[in-house]
Amino acid sequence: MSKTAEKQGSTAKPVTSRIANKVWREVSRPVRQLSRRIHGEEVAQTQPAASTYQQPEFDPKIATIEPEAIPFIQRLVRESRQYSGPIIEIGTLLGVTTTHMALAKAPEQKIITVDLYCWNPWGVTPAIHEAHTTQMLHYLVQTGHVDRVRMDKDEFFAKYRGPAPAMVFLDAMHDYENTKLDIEWAQRVGAKIISGHDYCDLHPGVIQIVDELGGPRELGGSVWVL
Ligand SMILES: C[S@@+](CC[C@H](N)C(=O)[O-])C[C@H]1O[C@@H](n2cnc3c(N)ncnc32)[C@H](O)[C@@H]1O
Repeated sequence: MSKTAEKQGSTAKPVTSRIANKVWREVSRPVRQLSRRIHGEEVAQTQPAASTYQQPEFDPKIATIEPEAIPFIQRLVRESRQYSGPIIEIGTLLGVTTTHMALAKAPEQKIITVDLYCWNPWGVTPAIHEAHTTQMLHYLVQTGHVDRVRMDKDEFFAKYRGPAPAMVFLDAMHDYENTKLDIEWAQRVGAKIISGHDYCDLHPGVIQIVDELGGPRELGGSVWVL
């Protein structure tokens, strides 16, 4: 036997053996597929169940107005229909209250909602926060019912040259000084209805300034109106 033949003989399988292997592969294919599926299921079962993961809570209703405040704010919006000028919301978050107000406004009324995306209760980045709000308000913005303004509220106040607002809803910062500044701006530009959120024990500064200005004319949940 030549060296080449020896070498070939040591690695190449006889023809009968190769045919037998092929037949075995074909015959055993369904069994192997089943085995893979079972193995896959076993692998999946070794992963922790979704419920055992520590999911960060993403409830879009956190930090928005309480359910009992929704009919109240919608009543204020309906009251504002008699005035010209926009409805201005300071502090959009995701736009949840914006959408509640949009449902009650007159078709020709515009809502301007202002946010700097500097705070949210879910710990997401400002970019993610703004992306979600953009999506939430997409229809209302595209149809001209809402103007979404990304700006610090004090800059917005300084730049605002529009008509006297029919209504303002103040819901960005809830300390005494900021709520006072927000109300003073609303009074300066002649807002017809001045309202805001969080007249509650958690925000004593809001209670203090609203009380100093005569107290809430009415409360709906923790939504106040002067
Ligand atoms: C309580 S959330 C607003 C909730 C919203 N009005 C609702 O009812 O669904 C407060 C929002 O105010 C924004 N904000 C806080 N300080 C601000 C500032 N100086 N200028 C603009 N937006 C501000 C935050 O980014 C946050 O989205």
